[in-house]
Amino acid sequence: MNKSKAYLEENKERFLEELIDLLKLPSISADPSYKDDVIATAHMVKKRLAEAGCTHTEICETPGYPVVYGERIIDENLPTVLVYGHYDVQPADPIELWDSPAFEPVIKKTDKHPEGAIFARGACDDKGQMYMHVKALEYMVENDDLPCNVKFMIEGEEEVGSENLGWFIQRNQEKLKNDVILISDTGMIAKDVPSITTGLRGLSYVEVEVTGPNRDLHSGLYGGAVANPINILSKMIASLHDENNKITIPGFYDKVEELSQVERAKMAEAPFDVEQYKESIGLHDIYGEKGYTTNERNSIRPTLDVNGIWGGYIGEGAKTVIPSKAYAKISMRLVPHQDWKEITELFQKHFESIAPDGVYVKVKPHHGGQGYVTPIDGIEYKAASEAYKEVFGKEPIPQRSGGSIPIVAMFEKELKSKTILMGFGLDSDAIHSPNEHFGIWNYLKGIETIPFFYKHFARLKQK
Ligand code: BES
Ligand code: MN
Ligand code: MN
Repeated sequence: MNKSKAYLEENKERFLEELIDLLKLPSISADPSYKDDVIATAHMVKKRLAEAGCTHTEICETPGYPVVYGERIIDENLPTVLVYGHYDVQPADPIELWDSPAFEPVIKKTDKHPEGAIFARGACDDKGQMYMHVKALEYMVENDDLPCNVKFMIEGEEEVGSENLGWFIQRNQEKLKNDVILISDTGMIAKDVPSITTGLRGLSYVEVEVTGPNRDLHSGLYGGAVANPINILSKMIASLHDENNKITIPGFYDKVEELSQVERAKMAEAPFDVEQYKESIGLHDIYGEKGYTTNERNSIRPTLDVNGIWGGYIGEGAKTVIPSKAYAKISMRLVPHQDWKEITELFQKHFESIAPDGVYVKVKPHHGGQGYVTPIDGIEYKAASEAYKEVFGKEPIPQRSGGSIPIVAMFEKELKSKTILMGFGLDSDAIHSPNEHFGIWNYLKGIETIPFFYKHFARLKQK
């Protein structure tokens, strides 16, 4: 058994217990009633960084939740790896659909994880994946095997748009100086198919409000004579896609990058079983933009989805009413070159223009961010690729993801460094859903693979 396998074997129970402790804290950034827990989580992360070998750690205040910073600088002449992750999590709702409470972690076996998986909100996104880096540092320090300087920047607002991280980065350029940014907050294709995430989609998130009459009305006395905001909102939303499932907002596709046939053929080589895909989410057919495959639809193509819609009477029984207002939350996933602020404006203009005179429409922009594509010919990609080869015995597949980590584009703009995304989660890990989990196998593989990235990055950087 090699050195790192032996260390993992010896310490794996403790590695699991430490993660479980972290998962017990409900660090839900979206809900202010969890404020104390979010802050307590930041302090726990700081303490763990110090225990793992950071020689300096700090809670850095921002206008929102703090950023946890840690570093171990061993030699100014060596390259510096900046690890980014987030300690905040999504709300656990709908809580009634969890098999065990979201913040009382349990280990259970699943089909995909016969070795067991930890079930808890944040297990995979991102506490489990972030903590792999803390334990990888511990391993490298304990075994005198740290070939780079390390900095950690762990934030508490990723799940609500990272607004204050931009603020923090702009004010701490020197402190955050690095040669590469390393993140585990994405997924891999399968346990025997390692992959490196080479793209993230951008995001524009808006909320719309449609107002009809100035008060709720009797649907018999007024029905048929006034615009019903829910009927109108439904029509407006339905009109945002055409019969080919293309988005109808004028200008929406203007800057979308069309991939060449060669690139598309390369993408299609990644293993994917559409039958298994359908089965895993309980559907008998797939759906989406005409002319594109499922993997293209959810990575290189932009989308528009309603995330929530409400208004009117939704209590027990029936109430005959024409509501005064209707609302929806809408997200648009964007691809490289689409600018999220521009798209938000296009949406706003279009949505207002399609409203009939019988209603008033308001569009409120929420957060957003640009997409990102990592080159596959840089040394950071090469280093990650070598690391996977050492542990998995095969070359990883580059794969663009449909998810978003809006801050990654800003890292490149502000810190001028490339990001490498080494994700170890599986799509079936149910991030953001009830029963989120993270495989113990994946957790340990991550801890095993990360030190090899440092090793190869140090080697390639010094050439
Ligand atoms: N870790 C995810 C993003 C992700 C997951 C990317 C899997 C690729 C594969 C991140 O925490 C997340 O949920 N991001 C949000 C955006 C944010 C602004 C709320 C998202 O993608 O919805
Ligand atoms: Mn995440
Ligand atoms: Mn998330």
